[in-house]
Order: sequence, then structure tokens, then C-alpha cells
Amino acid sequence: MHIALIGTGYVGLTSGVAFAFLGHRTTCIDTNTARIDRLKDGAMPFFEPWLKEMFTLARPNLQFFTSYEAVREADVVFITVGTPPLPDGSPDLKYLCSAARAIGTHMGSGYTVVVNKSTVPIGSGNWVDSLVREAFESATGGPSNGSFAIASNPEFLREGSALHDSLYPDRVVVGADDPRALDVLYTLYRPILEQTFAAPSFLPRPETLGAVPLIATGLQSAELVKYAANAFLSLKISYINEIAQLAEKVGADIAQVAKGIGLDRRIGTQFLQAGIGWGGSCFGKDTSALISTGAEYSLEMPIVAACRQVNYRQRERVVERLLQELKILKGRTIGLLGVAFKPNTDDIRDAPALDIGARLVQRGASVRAHDPIALQRARAEAADSGVQFVDTPALAACGADALVLVTDWPDYRELDWRSVALSMRNPFLLDGRNFLPAAQLEEAGLRYAAMGR
Ligand code: UGA
Repeated sequence: MHIALIGTGYVGLTSGVAFAFLGHRTTCIDTNTARIDRLKDGAMPFFEPWLKEMFTLARPNLQFFTSYEAVREADVVFITVGTPPLPDGSPDLKYLCSAARAIGTHMGSGYTVVVNKSTVPIGSGNWVDSLVREAFESATGGPSNGSFAIASNPEFLREGSALHDSLYPDRVVVGADDPRALDVLYTLYRPILEQTFAAPSFLPRPETLGAVPLIATGLQSAELVKYAANAFLSLKISYINEIAQLAEKVGADIAQVAKGIGLDRRIGTQFLQAGIGWGGSCFGKDTSALISTGAEYSLEMPIVAACRQVNYRQRERVVERLLQELKILKGRTIGLLGVAFKPNTDDIRDAPALDIGARLVQRGASVRAHDPIALQRARAEAADSGVQFVDTPALAACGADALVLVTDWPDYRELDWRSVALSMRNPFLLDGRNFLPAAQLEEAGLRYAAMGR
């Protein structure tokens, strides 16, 4: 099939590369000329494991353009533009609007399915429909009836394992009111649904994976699935973090509690890792959007609101824990291990490290932060945070009054903890992800504290 994707951010580029790998003729369109030029030269705009390798395999099926001409030939056009939060928390839809208009202007005479893959407010499908229709009718001077349909196809990719999640999803959700659009999307996804493609050597097919279910829904239901899924995942994390606070009070160990409840299959073990809580570009934005959508219908969403409150309080709890240890933060040096909002990505959007760093700087501490991958981005995008970004974990630890493990990068498990302890002014480490081998650190001379233990 011929497909086009508008927007080469995380979702657009990883999905485009995956579709091209599966054999679809894929065109990625972005108005950012520099980004498109770099992609043509094979340079990836962000760090994502295996993206470069799969890009190389898929290259014969991939094209990159800044113009919308390729939309004319496409059977399916995906809108994968950014919807960044505005100051009031609602998503900025200006890129979505211009993409929809440009699609309408350039669409050919054949039947086209226009798919929203960006996370957009519920009801956006109808809005995009009207924008595409108006633009198509004014470009062609004729009616648009039957020439296109709008669909919603939410993505569930996690940064850091986006290609794995694209090839081996738990399910594919497609929402459309036109059955023809569902048929087209079924054909597009067939290699994934039936797992008929040859798995790349670097991303082998999970042994337990069978056929992937396709959930076909109406437009609004698919849009709501995305928000409800992200809110539920963030809720699980906030729930375990709330229980972790109680665990600390009563002398329980949250890791044991999480295992004890998670093995109940109705609950499940995933997303019960207590610690500093969630960050990133999705959970904060989507829970906030869910609350504002509810408000438009005079509906309060107290569970989602509480989930956010618990999450952002975890960051302040790190500061409180350091105060408890050091009594005074003014003039202290604090090292942070990890800046990215999670391991295996260089994304620092809503990263807990930057928030915690800013709170500590505000209280007069000097903060040094290290990250194995995100340093370049942090220096470029968070230069005014007051946090100093350093090249090695040793530099974050040297002379520090405390170290905080913020991101659970596997590299940090392997540090030479004895020299870390010796180099610190006060060898105290707060493990914000309950991730490090406590006994080993204590043996190396560190006083070790975790969250919820
Ligand atoms: C999330 C969802 O997991 C994806 O399904 C969804 O497609 C994506 O948002 C999106 O909407 O685009 P992502 O934000 O990339 O993916 O990363 P997650 O792996 O979900 O982690 C989010 C945050 O939760 C991270 O800060 C992570 O450290 C934290 N987390 C995760 C915990 O604190 N505890 C856990 O048990 C799991």
C-alpha cells in the first residue's frame, strides 16, 4: 500500500519506519526542512533503540519530503504531528489543523483514509473531517462525498521500546464510522495482526506472541481508548506510590507488596514500580486533557485528578527526604543520576530530574546531573534550569552531600560504588527508583535509602 505520514516526531518516524519495513511504500512529510534533509542522509533526530538499524533495512521503501505532493498517491495518510500542551494544559492543535487542511488540498481522486495517530482531544476526528472536506472542496471545486474517510488509530508505543511495540503490539485499535476505512486499515495492519513478516534479527518476535487482536470501534471510542489507557497506567503508578508512602510508615517493603498484589492476574505486575513517579510527554498531558474534556461536559474526574496530585507530590518528597537527611539544603551539593524521564531515551519532557533539580536550586543547593544519553539535549533545552550537567557519574558524586538516582538506567547498576562513596562529602544515596543493589552499596560505604521501604 502507499502511505504518507505527516510529522516525523517519535510517533511519525518510528511508525513510518515500521510500515516501510513491513513493505508499504511510505512517505514521511515534515515542514521542518533541516530535519527532512538530515533524514534523507540517514541521521536520526532523536535517540531510540534500533531505529537506525530498522531505518537502514526499510530505506528502499522510505521517502522524505517537505511538500505534501505524495498525499495524492496515498491510500492512507497518517496525521502524526505534535500536540504540545498550551500554558493552560490543553493541547495545541495548530499543527493538526494545518496538516488536515494540507491533506484536503492535496488529496487525489482515489479513496483516501485519513488517520489521526496524534493524541488528540475526543471529538477531533469530526473536526479533522470538516477541515479536510472544506480544503478538498475548495481545491477541487467539487463535492468530497465518498472520496475520503477519517479514522482514529491510537498508538501505544513506549519511548525506548517503540519499534518493539510497533511490530509486536498487544492490540491494534482502529476507530472509524465508515466500514470501508476499517477494511483498508485491516489490510495495512495485516502483517502485524497475523505476524507474517520475517522478524529482524535485532528485534526477535516474542515466543509467546500469537495473532494480534484488532479492536474495531467507532471514532470517539478509539479516541477515548488512548486517554483511558494512559490514565489507567499512570493511575497504577500513583496508586503504588501512595501505598509506598504508607509502607514507609508501617515498616513494610513496597517491592514485596507490589509483587504480592501484582501476581493476582486481575491486577498484573507491570507499572507497579514505586519511586519518583511518572514523567514524559504523555501521561501528564493526557491526564490533564482528560480532566479538561470532562469539564467541558461538567464532569469531574476525581480519580484522574488524584493520580496527578500523587505523582507530582513524589518529586517534592525527594526534597523532603534530602532535608530530613541534611537538615539544611542551602550550600549543599546534590548529584542527580539520570535526566531523561525514563531509560533508553533522550527525552527530557516533564522529566522528574529537572523538576527536582529546580526545587533544590530554589532552596539554595547546587545540583549536578548526569545522564548516559540525554546530556546534549539537557544542555540545549534546560540550560536555564540552574542545574549543571556533567559528563560522568563520578563528577556528579564528587564532593556531593547526597546522590539521588532519578532514572533507572541499567548503566548505573554497574558503577564503582566504593570510589563513589569515597569521593562524596557525605556518602548518602537516595534510590528514587528502588533500582540499585542496596546491600552492595552499603558494603561499599554508602548510606542507602529507597522509596517505600
Ligand atoms: C506511555 C505509554 O506507556 C504508552 O503506551 C503510550 O503510547 C505513550 O505513553 C504515549 O502516549 O505516547 P512512555 O511515556 O513512553 O509511554 O513511557 P512509559 O514506559 O509508560 O513510562 C512513563 C513514565 O512512568 C516514566 O517516567 C517511567 O519511569 C514511569 N514508570 C513506569 C514508573 O514510575 N513506574 C512504573 O512501574 C512504570
